[in-house]
Amino acid sequence: MTAAQRQQWGLAALGALALAYGSVPVRAAPASFDAQVDALVARMSLEHKVAQLIQPDISTITPDDMRAYRFGSFLNGANSGPGGDLRAKPAAWLALADAMWAASAAPLANGEPAIPTLWATDAVHGHGHLGAATIFPHNVGLGATRDAGLVRRIGAVAASEIAATGIDWTFAPTLAVVGDVRWGRSYESFGSDPALVSTLGAAMVEGLQGEKGTAQFLDQAHVIATMKHFLGDGGTGGKDEGDTRGDIATLIATHGAPYRAAIAAGGQTVMASFSSINGEKMHGNRALLTGLLRDDMGFDGLVVGDWNAQGQLPGCTNADCPKAVNAGLDIYMVPDDWRALYAALLREVRDGTVPMARLDTAVRRILRVKAHYGLFDKPRPSARALAGNWGLIGAPDHRALAREAVARSLVLLGNTGVLPLRASAHILVAGRAADSVARQAGGWSINWQGGADFPNSDFPGATSIYAGIAAAAHAGGGSAVLSPDGSYADRPDVAVVVFGEKPYAEYAGDIPDLALRDEEGLGLLRKFRAAHIPTVAVLLSGRPLWTGREMAEADAFVAAWLPGSEGEGVADVLVGDAAGHPRRDFSGRLPFAWPATCAPGGAALFAVGEGGSYAAPPARRAAAQDCAALAPARKGVTVLFDRFLAQGANASATDATGSRDLPRLTGASTDRSIEAAAFDSATQEDARRVVWHRAATLGLQWPASAAVPANGVVHMTVRLATAPQARVALSGDCPGCTQAVDLAPLLRDRAGKGWAAIDVPLACLGGTRPGGIRLRADAPLTLEFREISVVAPEGGHAAENTACPSAPAGTGQ
Ligand code: BGC
Repeated sequence: MTAAQRQQWGLAALGALALAYGSVPVRAAPASFDAQVDALVARMSLEHKVAQLIQPDISTITPDDMRAYRFGSFLNGANSGPGGDLRAKPAAWLALADAMWAASAAPLANGEPAIPTLWATDAVHGHGHLGAATIFPHNVGLGATRDAGLVRRIGAVAASEIAATGIDWTFAPTLAVVGDVRWGRSYESFGSDPALVSTLGAAMVEGLQGEKGTAQFLDQAHVIATMKHFLGDGGTGGKDEGDTRGDIATLIATHGAPYRAAIAAGGQTVMASFSSINGEKMHGNRALLTGLLRDDMGFDGLVVGDWNAQGQLPGCTNADCPKAVNAGLDIYMVPDDWRALYAALLREVRDGTVPMARLDTAVRRILRVKAHYGLFDKPRPSARALAGNWGLIGAPDHRALAREAVARSLVLLGNTGVLPLRASAHILVAGRAADSVARQAGGWSINWQGGADFPNSDFPGATSIYAGIAAAAHAGGGSAVLSPDGSYADRPDVAVVVFGEKPYAEYAGDIPDLALRDEEGLGLLRKFRAAHIPTVAVLLSGRPLWTGREMAEADAFVAAWLPGSEGEGVADVLVGDAAGHPRRDFSGRLPFAWPATCAPGGAALFAVGEGGSYAAPPARRAAAQDCAALAPARKGVTVLFDRFLAQGANASATDATGSRDLPRLTGASTDRSIEAAAFDSATQEDARRVVWHRAATLGLQWPASAAVPANGVVHMTVRLATAPQARVALSGDCPGCTQAVDLAPLLRDRAGKGWAAIDVPLACLGGTRPGGIRLRADAPLTLEFREISVVAPEGGHAAENTACPSAPAGTGQ
């Protein structure tokens, strides 16, 4: 930083720059930050104050927007990477950090201070958007280790990898105290015990930020942490963004405890929860956001909102919500509607709807966090101590720490003596999850939801569970073969079946009951039992689940949670020496009770804190063997898209130049004739906007295994502002599917009227056994989708009564 910049920021008193890793300036006490911050705020224009409160997503702003508006911070939402590429190289992340920082810090006219911006990301189990990063076990696994020292070290390592890419701030840790593990975010929690969550949450904050009161606190090797989601996110009865109900003092004692601990550890930021307390949305809850958090808990950092959560307040939209700031929110996370929100907030400060004093307080809090973080002293991101040190990303000692955490997180729930495996044995490793880093990593890995089908090459340097077992067996003179479907030519001595939940995040992971629905895993366990092959079940899951059937089929049962990138940690405990003696023992203990039945609120098979070891084998307990809830919920419905592209379904775009897959039903065709993007309809990124710029075809194929009946009805929930100008042909996707129906009249009828259903019997499309549908627009068209499925008559639609919408419109091509 130049002397002129120091002068401009008025920070000459803050001491010399420290650029060397590990050597940081002794910072002034927070009280002197207050004076500095006040001096800055006094010189800021109203427009730039308002901009401090606006946090857009990198997918919707450019450095030029940053220079024009001077946002206080920005984020990359979990589906956003630099240049729209989630698989961008680390250097691209750092380059974007530099560009945004430079735009924010460019001098302003009239001596107004330019305030550098902050970049926030969801590094919730290491810098997981980078496939090459060290991906640690999700918090549920760390909860099983019960080891605050380990969690602190993990936080520090994660911080260094984040800092290497020039990012300042992570939206972690989640401090949820989870009462009902049907919640899709249970794995982001350390457990159900407020004391355990407090200890490990505070340790993670210390790891990420450095220890308060030491020279390491928020130095250049550390990042800003976020305590989330305040308050009561885990108490909603298993429902994401739900309502936590009860006596308020009890709720505060339970869900507030981890915040007290993490604030005492120096936590700088709090994220308000999407959820409600006793019916009142947290983003508008002044009594808790201000009364409890500030006045009672003494928090003096900043409160950031969650993704468009302001729009859920009564009387608010994503683009206008004075109620949230007035209740105590300091930053709006407003991924796309930032222009309108900025204008609204500016107007509302001018007309007094938002008091000027409230705005100043928010800005002061934001600037104080920046001062604590030394942002005014820091050079551009790429010139910081760890920046560009690519050796840190997935460094061997970082991976060794993650491997240690994996070994420590495993919980042994059954063992008739098959474990430890003899390293000299011939081991068969079965299940499609066995050699899948993506399955081990779960959600918030590369993208938001994670992906069961991400290849291992997306995670360079990572090791699958199979690879770890194979390495241990080879070292011990044995052998291991991978057999995803469980078939074998040479009869193995023992089989390890890796199975469980597929990756998910947030509401996509909410489940109606506690049943594990993995027929593949159960089938493999049954197959080996029938063949009298001793079998070890390794469950990958974000939570405890009813696994009565699987436990009954297996000779040993291990809860491995979502271990992340270092699969060897599993073999370290499961595979003993050549003689079959343990190399290391199990030490993981359950962070949540393990259910005996699939019914929520039923009896526990194992209590919190239980877990067996070689020294003290687990008790043998019998869980229920069946579950009434296992009957399919939506009989006869083949979903293609319902908030997410269905597992196994495929979307593609075909234009004059070729055909291309649209993963997640987002992206563009080869020459960009079609572009598909996610947007928020009712919840986060639950809908798709498909724009045909010229004639082209959108294809959707259902999973090959789907039993789509010939008398099914294509059911779509669509919205369009402008009526189509030309034919919109819906056809089947099959060799004989030459017939199409023109949807244009139906769409014209629905244009400008909000969300509406369109039903077309498959029979109208001709051909037999189509593998999917195709939608071709002959002229520019913008069509939004919320659901696309095929419904059989028993699925609730009177297919036989649904007529073909119009005369066949010729071929669909
Ligand atoms: C989640 C937050 C996350 C944010 C930014 C939201 O959907 O609730 O936990 O930090 O997105 O990606």
